[in-house]
Amino acid sequence: MCTGNNSFRAVITGKGGVGKTTLTACLATALARSGVNTLAVDEDPQMNLPHAMGLGVAKASAIVPLNLNSEYIEEKTGARPGATGWGALFKLNPDVDDVVARFGVRVAERLSMLVMGTVKQAGGGCLCAENVLLDSVIRHLSLRENEGILLDTQAGVEHFGRALSRGFSHCLVVADATFNALSVACSSADLARQIGIPKVCLVVNRTQSETRGRLERFLKETGLSLDQRFDGTLYLPAEPRLADLEPDVTRIMSCGDSEYATTVNTLAEALLVRSCSCSSAA
Ligand SMILES: Nc1ncnc2c1ncn2[C@@H]1O[C@H](COP(=O)(O)OP(=O)(O)O)[C@@H](O)[C@H]1O
Ligand SMILES: [Mg+2]
Repeated sequence: MCTGNNSFRAVITGKGGVGKTTLTACLATALARSGVNTLAVDEDPQMNLPHAMGLGVAKASAIVPLNLNSEYIEEKTGARPGATGWGALFKLNPDVDDVVARFGVRVAERLSMLVMGTVKQAGGGCLCAENVLLDSVIRHLSLRENEGILLDTQAGVEHFGRALSRGFSHCLVVADATFNALSVACSSADLARQIGIPKVCLVVNRTQSETRGRLERFLKETGLSLDQRFDGTLYLPAEPRLADLEPDVTRIMSCGDSEYATTVNTLAEALLVRSCSCSSAA
C-alpha cells in the first residue's frame, strides 16, 4: 500500500513487440489500485497505450499528442512547431506546470495518462520547438511529487538524453528470450546507465519453460553478462488470455488466477519500496 512517500518514475523500454505497452498499462493499473497516484505517459507514435488502458476507441482516437498540438507548443515556446533554434526565437525552458492538468486523460481512480507523441532526440541534437517542449515535459514530470510515473517509450532512452536522469529512478528494459530482443535490451541497459538512471532492471516477458535455457544460450554465445548491466531480473509469464482481452489488456489485472497479473503486482510493490528488488519471481 502506498504510504504517500513512495514516488518513483520508471521508463519502460525495449525492442518493438516485446510487451512494453501491455506491461505499462497493467503496471499502471496495479499501482493505482494499490493507492498510488499514477500517470502513464505514451511516447510511442502509434499511440497504443490509450487503447491498452481501455480508454475506448472514440476517446482514444480523439487524443492529440502533445508534439502535434501546435497551439500548446506555440503558447509555451513562442514558436510554431518545426521552428528550429537557428533564426527562430523561442523559450528553451518553457513552463509546462499545467501539462497534466490540461492534457492528462483520466482513466480510472488515481490513474491518468498523457500522450506525448514521439521524441526526436529531445535531450540532444534536434533543437526544434516541439522537442524543446517535450524535453520540458519530461523534466517537469520528473519533478512532480507523490506519484508514480510510467513512461512507455519506443524511441529508446537515448532520445531523451539527460532529461531522464533528473528524477527517473528506474528503467525497466523489456525483452523476450530471443537474440534480437535480448541484444537490444543489453544496449538499452548500457544507455540507461550512461544517462544516469539509478536502477536498471530486465523484464523477461512471455516466460515459458524454455525461456531460461534460451537466455543462458544467448549469454554464452554473446559473452554478455546480465549481472553487470541489470540490478535485477523479473520473469513475466506468458499469458495467452492477453490476446483475447485486447485492446484493454488491463482486464487481466482482475483475473485472480493470472500469474502475469500476480507478477505485475509484485513488480509494483518492488517499485514502491524504491529499490528494484525484481529478482527472479518466476
Ligand atoms: N506476457 C505476455 N504473454 C502473451 N502475450 C503477451 C505478453 N505480453 C504482451 N503480449 C502481447 O504481445 C503483443 C505486443 O505487446 P505490446 O505490449 O504491444 O508490445 P510493445 O509495446 O513492446 O510493442 C500484444 O499482442 C500483447 O497482447
Ligand atoms: Mg508499445
